[in-house]
Amino acid sequence: MATMLSITGITKNFGVESSRRLRGRGVEVAPRALALDGVDLEVTKGQFHTLLGPSGCGKTTLLRSIAGLERPDRGTISLAGTPIFCSERRINVVPDRRGLGMVFQSYAIWPHMNVFKNVAFPLGVTRVDGRRMPRAEQRARVLEALEVVGLGPYADRPATNLSGGQQQRLAVARALVTRPSLVLLDEPLSNLDAKLRESMRFELKRLQRETGVTMVYVTHDQSEALALSDVVTVMSAGNIVQSGTPREVYDRPASLFVAQFVGSPNLLPGTVGSGGGATSRVECVLGAVAVAAANGAARPGARVQVLMRPEDLTITGAEEKGANGDGANGFDGVVAATAFEGERVRHHVEVAGVTVECHSERHRAFPAGARVRLTIAPEHVRLVPEEGAPDPGTREAGALTGADA
Ligand SMILES: Nc1ncnc2c1ncn2[C@@H]1O[C@H](COP(=O)(O)OP(=O)(O)OP(=O)(O)O)[C@@H](O)[C@H]1O
Ligand SMILES: [Mg+2]
Repeated sequence: MATMLSITGITKNFGVESSRRLRGRGVEVAPRALALDGVDLEVTKGQFHTLLGPSGCGKTTLLRSIAGLERPDRGTISLAGTPIFCSERRINVVPDRRGLGMVFQSYAIWPHMNVFKNVAFPLGVTRVDGRRMPRAEQRARVLEALEVVGLGPYADRPATNLSGGQQQRLAVARALVTRPSLVLLDEPLSNLDAKLRESMRFELKRLQRETGVTMVYVTHDQSEALALSDVVTVMSAGNIVQSGTPREVYDRPASLFVAQFVGSPNLLPGTVGSGGGATSRVECVLGAVAVAAANGAARPGARVQVLMRPEDLTITGAEEKGANGDGANGFDGVVAATAFEGERVRHHVEVAGVTVECHSERHRAFPAGARVRLTIAPEHVRLVPEEGAPDPGTREAGALTGADA
């Protein structure tokens, strides 16, 4: 696969700038605020690549660095093999000449222009061989871009008379109109209500597939990242901590941080026991848990986190045994809290002094106080490398929100 975007060693420390500024005024400050700490990233042509991470981890700074709106301290950014930024060679191509489309977190729509003029704007400022694009061609391009996002009939409307979802699509049309090879999107769906956000996800994915454009998409919403992406890159504090397909990141988190950030898992510290063959045994507070050998490093004596996704656990009444097949792990517990969420029911179950979360389909709800059994097949238990594990007892029992089922 051809590489569209290649980033190496991108570092950005806002503290250097601000401390210089402040020192000029006689104020002494330590240079910190390292927004990007030597980031490497590779995006292949036609890929939907998502940057996922908590607030302040550097997502917008990275996107703005790619667009040329932020100047990194160090590193190289190349587009289709051509450097557009290189600190060593003092290359820094201006944003207009990078040939990228960008959708900002706030759509940045021009309120005094109608829909057509909003989309036409980037064409008006783009020069090809020093010349402006002829009007007739501009018009054809704008109408085509509006058609792609389903806004064809709205060309003459004032932009402010559009709904939130339509404005979002307008911002996408404006990013596509110059036919860029790469479009950067910074949380474009964050201002929409849940239902619209969901339908726009499908629209965006369809659009990306139909146009074949490469997209780098920023979000802090893990379900959005999993639903949309070919590749998810998880960031934490200016670093990339894991990059992989949605399934890889979800099923094989490389660290405790990724496991916690992607999904709402049950994580329990444990120690790998001796054994071998198809399953290994891990000792944790729930007792000995059988884990398929393929699901994580199983060196005897290794400290690990045992990960059991709430949707992989099956909940049954205490007396109904044998769910999840022979050889499944089983834990007896008492329901502490239950929340009915429409398509599923969430249970918090007290097992051996810890709270285990379990999701079940909507017709299988157990009330608080019910004695239940949780089962999970060894192939659904994952091991995550240990690193500063949280205290399993810190989660409050009964902390579920929503009406009791
Ligand atoms: N212009 C700036 N001056 C100083 N610090 C900045 C500036 N822009 C960003 N930062 C800092 O850099 C870090 C990364 O910010 P960034 O906006 O990239 O985060 P983000 O991942 O996009 O977060 P969010 O999800 O909240 O949008 C933060 O600590 C932020 O406070
Ligand atoms: Mg941001």
